[in-house]
Amino acid sequence: MADGATLNNPHPQSEATRGRGTARSGVEGATPDTVLASAPSTTSWSPSPAKGGGGFDVHAARAQFPILSRTVNGKPLVYLDSAASAQKPRAVIDALTAAMEGSYSNVHRGLHTLANETTEAFEQARETVARFLNAESPDQIVWTKGGTEAFNLVAAGLAQSLKPGDEIVTTQMEHHANIVPWSMLRDRLGIVLKWAPVLDDGSLDMAGLAALIGPRTKLVAVTHMSNVLGTVNDVRAVADLAHAAGALVLVDGCQGAVHCSPDVQALDCDFYVFTGHKLYGPTGIGGMYGKRAALEALPPYQGGGEMIATVTEDAVTYAGIPHRFEAGTPPILEAIGLGAALEWFMAFDRQAVAAHERALYDHVVARLSGLNWLRIIGEAPGKGAILTFTVEGAHAHDVAQILDRYGVAVRAGLHCAEPLSKRFGITSSARASFALYNTVEDADAFVDALIKAREFFV
Ligand code: ALA
Repeated sequence: MADGATLNNPHPQSEATRGRGTARSGVEGATPDTVLASAPSTTSWSPSPAKGGGGFDVHAARAQFPILSRTVNGKPLVYLDSAASAQKPRAVIDALTAAMEGSYSNVHRGLHTLANETTEAFEQARETVARFLNAESPDQIVWTKGGTEAFNLVAAGLAQSLKPGDEIVTTQMEHHANIVPWSMLRDRLGIVLKWAPVLDDGSLDMAGLAALIGPRTKLVAVTHMSNVLGTVNDVRAVADLAHAAGALVLVDGCQGAVHCSPDVQALDCDFYVFTGHKLYGPTGIGGMYGKRAALEALPPYQGGGEMIATVTEDAVTYAGIPHRFEAGTPPILEAIGLGAALEWFMAFDRQAVAAHERALYDHVVARLSGLNWLRIIGEAPGKGAILTFTVEGAHAHDVAQILDRYGVAVRAGLHCAEPLSKRFGITSSARASFALYNTVEDADAFVDALIKAREFFV
């Protein structure tokens, strides 16, 4: 790609300049200063372990996100909704612009220069994903329009061989994208869906999971990192259990790809699903890694151009992997944008980034400890930087809306994981999720705003 060099500039030297809006009096009737006077004080903050020691400079990283200098409701934006979708660095914005301005065409179809350049950039992005996940080969990376389509692709393929009474084992902590496709197979084919329990601290009950896996198990579908609890599952241990029973393992890596530095060969999973927009890339692109044998055993997904080898009036033969799963014009720009995002992301020490995020989480939890009106959902050892909580006497939607008035963006509701809410006996919760670009100032602004918000429900 002619402009490939523009994709690799992850560390400009400028410091972040946070937007400073006009101070507001806050939510109607609030007296923030008096509220804060009685609030727990900010705990002493030690620099992120990543800063200095691990070479991760959050301010330099943050400065690459133009949107983070805007204000919301007159306050500096505090974006704590990255588990829903992450913001985009300049490298991604520039890569998309460069692709559209400099070399754009359809892929795989043309013989002209632009077609060749764009095909090269598109396939280079696939190679980048393969490197990011430590896949054996780029042809084991299938593009889809997001994580959800990848789950549906596997479900559609498995549907052709599943028999009534066959079993799929999943867990109570799954996102709907890793539930509903299997539930649809249950309704259509008469298969059995089994649910591994979640323990009170948010850990996966591994003994409970093991007890569900048996000779009729065809697939174990488990998340790498819960989008609600932040729990990081031992997916290698899950894979070992499943494989011992002759079952396939599908890992939902939509959060794990961002925070857990996955190595799909070490995890030994058959499928690893990811989505681009949580990885600092564009929407409309995602996909999955598959073991070669697992992919080759899956029948084609949608029919159309580019997924075929030959088409006659009487018969169709299909292309090899991964193209047999990619009918029609693919999300070309989106894939190139995701490639740029991953090149940018891989230039950081990802374990240092995760440590930085977790240090922010720990800082917030330390400041919130002892508040008897706050319930934290999910405290599994080794969890990632997702804080899901309820506020006594308040609906989570109201909490989120009041936080927004202070410029703080969190998610609220069921988080596309309704069985998990039921497991914890709640009908909604709020969620603050931390990303690479969040600072201790963000963490403190969130805690301060939450304590002020609480006053509205007393
Ligand atoms: N799956 C996304 C979330 O957890 C949308 O918020």
